[in-house]
Amino acid sequence: MDNYEELVIQSAKNLFHERALVQLDGMVVGAVAAIPKTSRDDEVHQHDLNYGEIFIRDNVPVMAYLLIEGKYEVVRHFLDTCLKLQSNEPRTRGIFPTSFVELNGHVVGDYGQRAIGRVISVDATLWWPILAYTYVQRSGDRAFASQPQVQVGLEKMLDLLLRSGFRDAPTLFVPDGAFMIDRPLDVWGTPLEIQSLLYGALLSAAGLLQIACADAPEAGLRSPSADSDGAAKRPAGNPELLHQTLQYAQRLRRYVLRHYWVNSKTVQVLRRRPTEQYGDDIENEYNIQTETIPHWLQDWLGDRGGYLIGNIRTGRPDFRFFTLGNCLGAIFDLISPNEQQDLFRLILQNRNDLVAQMPLRICHPPLDDEEWRKKTGYDRKNLPWCYHNAGHWPCLLWFLTAAVLRQNERSHDPELAAALEEMLESTYQNLLRNLPRQDWAEYFDGPTGTWMGQQARTYQTWTIVGFLLVHHLLKVNPEDATILNVPSLKSFQLVEEEV
Ligand code: GLC
Repeated sequence: MDNYEELVIQSAKNLFHERALVQLDGMVVGAVAAIPKTSRDDEVHQHDLNYGEIFIRDNVPVMAYLLIEGKYEVVRHFLDTCLKLQSNEPRTRGIFPTSFVELNGHVVGDYGQRAIGRVISVDATLWWPILAYTYVQRSGDRAFASQPQVQVGLEKMLDLLLRSGFRDAPTLFVPDGAFMIDRPLDVWGTPLEIQSLLYGALLSAAGLLQIACADAPEAGLRSPSADSDGAAKRPAGNPELLHQTLQYAQRLRRYVLRHYWVNSKTVQVLRRRPTEQYGDDIENEYNIQTETIPHWLQDWLGDRGGYLIGNIRTGRPDFRFFTLGNCLGAIFDLISPNEQQDLFRLILQNRNDLVAQMPLRICHPPLDDEEWRKKTGYDRKNLPWCYHNAGHWPCLLWFLTAAVLRQNERSHDPELAAALEEMLESTYQNLLRNLPRQDWAEYFDGPTGTWMGQQARTYQTWTIVGFLLVHHLLKVNPEDATILNVPSLKSFQLVEEEV
């Protein structure tokens, strides 16, 4: 490490540990979204909108980094705090808040009732079991999983995900802006990021349920979940729910691979499908017309690239490329190792779009003109090439780094592996040079991502900690690329024959 690199890493660590982390009940509980500006005169912290709150999604890299540092008690405190905030209201029972903050001695959660546009986030609820499972794996604290309140929390969450609704498809249907993209951007319905997270959440929840099934009999734990209903007490482990959860995950995976995965072969099949079909055994279930397949796709896919498209809806699929949903699809092994290689080939091939001057573009291509007006409601923050609408977010690079490194371990294509590592290394060097100069901005605008986002916050926590994670994975310990591994479907003997 040269002097400059050492200085940057040290200053990023200081910013993170000294300025971003906040305490609750006398112990660090997580990090604010952006480090507040300090007024020189009176040292009073001034916060912009809700960037002083602790967002569950922004704390994903924070918790991953703290686990790598061995700060298990902080992560446990974060998980416990979120769990206490899980809603018990009749209309929202089981959901976790987007963010929380301590106000006048009380912890207040935002479930969408305070958010701009009153958007709700579904991803926070899905991230919680993934983080909880990761915590148990890294710390070895199995007793955390078997606690009655954790099992009850999982049951409430699974009740929300597995319960009956109007649709039979296993995907989760959500309103516009229900995840990292938290403004209208035509991402309503069954957007990819939610489905990838759902898959990770189901498998993580299954992992946590299994621990309770295995450990609870000895510990003699009893679940209080039944108390309020007056029903009989039963052991904390719930094998029936575990089985149901795994079957659901399996169905979801098959469905996503069938409907979301595209490469040049599948597109040719899609283009020649009949329409207006009715009944059980048909090829074009969602009655999708060939004209919905955009022309840019040909060049973008090339011969050997593949990816999960943004959304499947009746007649209106969304072929946009969403970076986080695809990276998570790889990290959770929703897509197979071969498909992961095709995905990374596609990213390499479209490096000028996705990485450009600042990694990574959040989605491609942007909605523009009439589409922007109609689908975003003239949203000035989401102008074409800005913010969520094809803006560039440095916080996304660590997800890609983790996905690539865990795949490179089992890769049969050394040339591809080397090209990917070269791309990651040069992208890291780019961040190293530019992020401190650009005050660790939240996002970057324009077709090459060169300009600091028009409304970007500076000293954004997930930019800082995302950079630290990339540095850690590339330079310190690549083995930590498995940090977000969820249990594989095959690891559960319960459904082995069926998988
Ligand atoms: C913006 C982002 C959202 C993030 C929040 C706090 O609203 O769209 O993903 O969680 O800022 O950083």
